[in-house]
Amino acid sequence: MAKEFKRYLITSALPYANGPVHIGHLAGVYIPSDIYTRYLRLRGRDVISVCGSDEHGVPITIKARREGITPQQVVDRYHEIIKKSFEGLGIAFDIYSRTTSPVHTETASAFFRKLYDEGKFIEKTSMQYYDEEAQTFLADRYIMGTCPKCGNERAYGDQCEACGSTLSPDELLNPHSTVSGSVPVKRETKHWYLPLNEYEPMLRKWILEDHKDWKSNVYGQCKSWLDGGLQPRAVSRDLDWGIPVPVEGAEGKVLYVWFDAPIGYISATKELTPEWEKYWKSEDTKLVHFIGKDNIVFHCIVFPSMLKAHGGYILPENVPANEFLNLEGDKISTSRNWAIWLHEYLEEMPGKEDVLRYVLCANAPETKDNDFTWKDYQTRNNNELVAVLGNFVNRAMVLTHKYYGGEVPACGELNDYDRATLGELSHIKSALENNIENYRFRDALKEAMNVARIGNKYLADTEPWKVIKSDPERVKTILNIALQITANIAIACEPFMPFTAAKILRMLDTERFDWERLGATDLVEAGHRVGEPELLFEKIDDETIQRQLDKLAAIKAANLAAEAKAEPQKEECSIDDFQKIDIRVSTIVAAEKVAKTKKLLKLTIDTGIDRRVIVSGIAEFYSPEELVGKQVPVLVNLAPRELKGIVSQGMILMAADATGRLRLLNPDEAVTSGAVVG
Ligand code: 2FM
Ligand code: ZN
Repeated sequence: MAKEFKRYLITSALPYANGPVHIGHLAGVYIPSDIYTRYLRLRGRDVISVCGSDEHGVPITIKARREGITPQQVVDRYHEIIKKSFEGLGIAFDIYSRTTSPVHTETASAFFRKLYDEGKFIEKTSMQYYDEEAQTFLADRYIMGTCPKCGNERAYGDQCEACGSTLSPDELLNPHSTVSGSVPVKRETKHWYLPLNEYEPMLRKWILEDHKDWKSNVYGQCKSWLDGGLQPRAVSRDLDWGIPVPVEGAEGKVLYVWFDAPIGYISATKELTPEWEKYWKSEDTKLVHFIGKDNIVFHCIVFPSMLKAHGGYILPENVPANEFLNLEGDKISTSRNWAIWLHEYLEEMPGKEDVLRYVLCANAPETKDNDFTWKDYQTRNNNELVAVLGNFVNRAMVLTHKYYGGEVPACGELNDYDRATLGELSHIKSALENNIENYRFRDALKEAMNVARIGNKYLADTEPWKVIKSDPERVKTILNIALQITANIAIACEPFMPFTAAKILRMLDTERFDWERLGATDLVEAGHRVGEPELLFEKIDDETIQRQLDKLAAIKAANLAAEAKAEPQKEECSIDDFQKIDIRVSTIVAAEKVAKTKKLLKLTIDTGIDRRVIVSGIAEFYSPEELVGKQVPVLVNLAPRELKGIVSQGMILMAADATGRLRLLNPDEAVTSGAVVG
């Protein structure tokens, strides 16, 4: 028998405030946690959902340094963007706090201090890299060098992004500080460590024996950590951004971000309610952490050990971590801007909040990494949301208005087909509950959509628009049933697509129904007048999708260019070799497309020596109009050659980046045509 809980505490991984939230975060963490929370609220459970920005850690200081602003300015900027975008997508946390809040500083400091006072930490000194020029210890990310595995010269102290290896700063060859560029030295430093090894027996029993029900990806990762043997883990860092270590002799040291961040769940609850202890300290509470797979060790091993060390806190009942979502076949990356950012989506696709929620849930990486593509987004919108859900609700509403002026008709005698249809509805509730409570949100969404499929099939089979001529009484029953199904959709959809559920309720002109009523066939009463039909979803056309694909293509091109290594230098040439080449500044006087080609333009140029024709492969990058009047360097003594029947006399010299994009080179001031370049 599953344990009955009196209340629920739902946490969602605190996003780093060093960038906005993207679809990978949403599919992995926030959409599932919102569905789960909304479902529990609908069922009338005592539930709170807490989240907030994770505002400490090295990536934030790096960003600040790069932009010449303070870390506080960085987190202020992104906290606002993230908070607002969550609201825009209907992610309904009870509180969205931040780890720079005074309550959090106080809570995390007190937590550390209690463990310190009770001797729960080990103090250890070690040798760490120190930048003498900048007078600072260097976090792993601030050290760069050559990767011992692949030879990449720009590997970080914790990871090589070229080959994906996890590294330690000691492994890097030729290390240098990214703060000053100098070669760092080793210096002794003291830190506090949580001896995770002491909690291993507790963790083994709690996870490996008592929580065999956890998702296999989570259970498997925990098992492999535990089987590998746990080591003491440092909970402080030498850094000037973070919560100061609250003990004497710890100047310049802050709490490690992974020590303070999970305590953020507790601080956020404290900020939300004076009854916070009821949620954190009672065995009657079901604590569920929603996270991505990269956070498993911290939520299943480190944080539970911290909570045990402190005492008095409950441990999570489940940690339903998801795998990763890719974007158009590539790993999502904040630093490479390879993402669909939530705040941009909300701006560019207004009114399509539920479309994104739907697609990300239908395609959620629950058991393996998955791929988001704009094509799939379009197909799911057009073929599922528009054609199934929207179409059914619209037909039910429009026909009710057409035949009965918007008044719900009475249900007459049911035939076998009506009964079979209504019977199908009665299974949906338990299927949905079973799936949501076991964190299978994709399957749950399919069940919710099945309500609309049942409705669509019912109308297609009963054809009220035909029957109205021969048996108008029968149509009353058909439409009464169609409206009951519509009301059921509003209940079933609410956890997944809250905007749509609200729209349906508005159309039906009814209050929100209780979850327990899901499957009922008397949700809207005969004689009740429904509101005006509204379109739930609109088709998304190819141009809209193409715009998004173009945006991604531009990002990819920029990344390729930024990451490309310069071409190796060619073999040495003598001044005599160079002297053979005659380059002149020339003026383009006419330009036109070469018929039946995509890439070629026919340019007439004034070389100062003569007027001549050059055929150039730049039509993809410049229109003919843009070129006329431009001055460009031209290799004038190149042997003529024929291209598409036109004799080309010379070559325009341009810059080509790693993606093959061509750009013109202009003199910085106009010169007379024929001026020698050399
Ligand atoms: O991986 C991340 O984005 C972290 N900022 C998650 C922190 S979760 C929690 F422990 F605060
Ligand atoms: Zn490498």
